[in-house]
Amino acid sequence: MPAVGLGLWKIERAKAAETVGNAVKFGYRHFDSAYDYGNEAETGEGLRQVLSSGICKREDLFVTSKLWNTYHEPAHVRPALEQSLKRLQLDYLDLYLIHFPIALKFVTFDRYPPGWFYDPNSPNPRMEPIRVPISDTWRAMEDLVRAGLVRNIGVSNFGVSLMRDLLSYAEILPAVLQVEMHPFLTQDKLVRFCREQGVAVTAFSPLGAASYYSIGMAGEGDSALEQPAVQEIAARHGKSPAQVLLRWGVQRGTAVIPKSTRAERLRENLEIFDFELAANEMSAIGGLNRNRRFNDPGVFCEKAFNTFFPIYE
Ligand code: A2P
Repeated sequence: MPAVGLGLWKIERAKAAETVGNAVKFGYRHFDSAYDYGNEAETGEGLRQVLSSGICKREDLFVTSKLWNTYHEPAHVRPALEQSLKRLQLDYLDLYLIHFPIALKFVTFDRYPPGWFYDPNSPNPRMEPIRVPISDTWRAMEDLVRAGLVRNIGVSNFGVSLMRDLLSYAEILPAVLQVEMHPFLTQDKLVRFCREQGVAVTAFSPLGAASYYSIGMAGEGDSALEQPAVQEIAARHGKSPAQVLLRWGVQRGTAVIPKSTRAERLRENLEIFDFELAANEMSAIGGLNRNRRFNDPGVFCEKAFNTFFPIYE
């Protein structure tokens, strides 16, 4: 898995194909999509264009997608993947993740993306959890590998206890855990546990608050990019604060998947392999940790989806 990927969450459908095309031209080979992002068809169109233009071959790309919460029942796992493959115009994925440890009542495939509400048109729309153990979903994920439809499987938004449980029964081991990770949420023990277990870690929102201002989930003082320590280190290396955070993520052994639609930022976010952070710089950045999680179902599900739904506590 290439250490830097393009995160596709919140990339508008109208911009997704062009952004994917630009990213490939600039050297990106890792794309992080999801059923829930609602832009898989446009992402697929971008991928089709680069593959048909010959800039790169399918085997040069590393494409991830994610099983949405409404498809945890084993019978729905393969049809959900097939929907993603069809939209992405691919015949296999490099990585398929269980998006959240949250099983919600099935929503038919004609609603795309299904979102969090079972019935958004009801007078009091809510999330409708169902009783599906992750082990049942994992068995169906393993079958996708056996069927040759996905090369690797993994999970997202899991903590150590869920990982430990999964590792206790998995016949095909999770290749990757993807979680929110940046200098304000370093999760050192989770990173170390995964390293010891041979599970690669991908950091989403590696720039921290940046993605969350526009959706009201971050505010004043939440920006790691504006931290004096980060700015000083950036100035010392002649790099931007964003490049320092991404380099820190890669240097601690995680993959990072920053999102941008702007060409200059796409380039900037990939140019992190021509400098190295010193040990004291690594620890100064890691020392900014304040366990600040921006993407927390325990907060946003109640605010946005009328349903109190903590998962990390
Ligand atoms: P934009 O898409 O307008 O470039 P993350 O992937 O950590 O969630 O961060 C994504 C957010 O950070 C987006 O709002 C994106 O805005 C912004 N962003 C991406 N790259 C950079 C960069 N190099 N410097 C500053 N902000 C960036």
